[in-house]
Amino acid sequence: MHILGIETSCDETAAAIVREDGTILSSLVLSQLKEHAAFGGVVPEIAARAHLDHLHTLIEAALSDAGLGYDDLDGVAATCGPGLIGGVLVGMMAGKAIAAAKNIPFIAVNHLEGHALTPRLTDGIEFPYLLLLVSGGHTQLLVAEGPGQYKRWGTTLDDACGECFDKSAKLMGLPYPGGPNLEKIAAACAAPQKALERFPLPRPMAHRKELDFSFSGLKTAVRTHVYALPKGDLDAADVADLAYAFQTAVAEILAERTGKALEKFLEDYTPAKASLVVSGGVAANQTIRAALDELAAQKGVTLYAPPLNLCSDNAAMIAWAGLERLRAGHSDGFDFKARPRWPLDPDAEPKHGAGVKA
Ligand code: KG4
Ligand code: ZN
Repeated sequence: MHILGIETSCDETAAAIVREDGTILSSLVLSQLKEHAAFGGVVPEIAARAHLDHLHTLIEAALSDAGLGYDDLDGVAATCGPGLIGGVLVGMMAGKAIAAAKNIPFIAVNHLEGHALTPRLTDGIEFPYLLLLVSGGHTQLLVAEGPGQYKRWGTTLDDACGECFDKSAKLMGLPYPGGPNLEKIAAACAAPQKALERFPLPRPMAHRKELDFSFSGLKTAVRTHVYALPKGDLDAADVADLAYAFQTAVAEILAERTGKALEKFLEDYTPAKASLVVSGGVAANQTIRAALDELAAQKGVTLYAPPLNLCSDNAAMIAWAGLERLRAGHSDGFDFKARPRWPLDPDAEPKHGAGVKA
């Protein structure tokens, strides 16, 4: 079985072909970094138009890289939300058109489920597992029980973790995309201990009983430090110190919250083999991976973090999520409507102040 995956929910146009056994036959990602860089962030209208310009070429290239034609496809999986709706519509309609023309199943994939199921594609891990999903739009702790079956235990009450990286990076005068650039400059910090003393930062929600996150106070603290620095172009050494202090704070916050969730997971599920998964764009950060690795070692569980190219947005994860759903007997009609908001756990209680991110 060969599934075509299509991803257009943010600023990456992506197409991939994945075989039933989890072999990624092709996976192409066209980043729109250049189109958005001048604006310091993703402009939805520009993103949608760029997807429209490039998606068909990318799909044909993915087929050709895999040595396949449209007739060899057994299904089409497209991200149908959550995300920037203009872009989502482009990918969803392309997917429906191919499925209709070839009379094969169409699978509407939740982008978050793509991230959530990636370690089953890469490492074949078993359900249930504890999942820390950290991306530009979401920061959640969930238990993955099966395809389409998630229990949300914690979520951000304000900014997402990746959003906090991006906004803090912007405050530090770093170019877009903020997260990876902040990680790069933090590595240039010459005196880590001194940097932490120089730039004390809060750990919001630390040791709270609930498993939620909050990042807006951290971002505000970064702003206060930046405003206290000499005006004009910020000194590179100052930025490296502040970036280091920021990244350390985020890694500690994520490890502390996840540690608490892990204790509950081990108690509630008593899995024979306990797995902790970190996925989403922020999972590419090495300091965060190291902090979670240490946590996993302490608790005697195995940490799974996807390879870097499968942390950031890609279509292989969408094809795989489609495959899992198809195998579970699930496909969607052409009347499926794109969803700007699509929680993995629709039964989770809305959180006060969390708005649409819950
Ligand atoms: O999963 P993703 O590619 O897109 C969404 O679904 O949101 O995540 C993008 C987010 C951005 O906020 C980006 O700055 C962040 O992931 N990110 C990183 C790193 N690489 C990407 N954050 C910190 N360190 C990184 N190395
Ligand atoms: Zn994503």
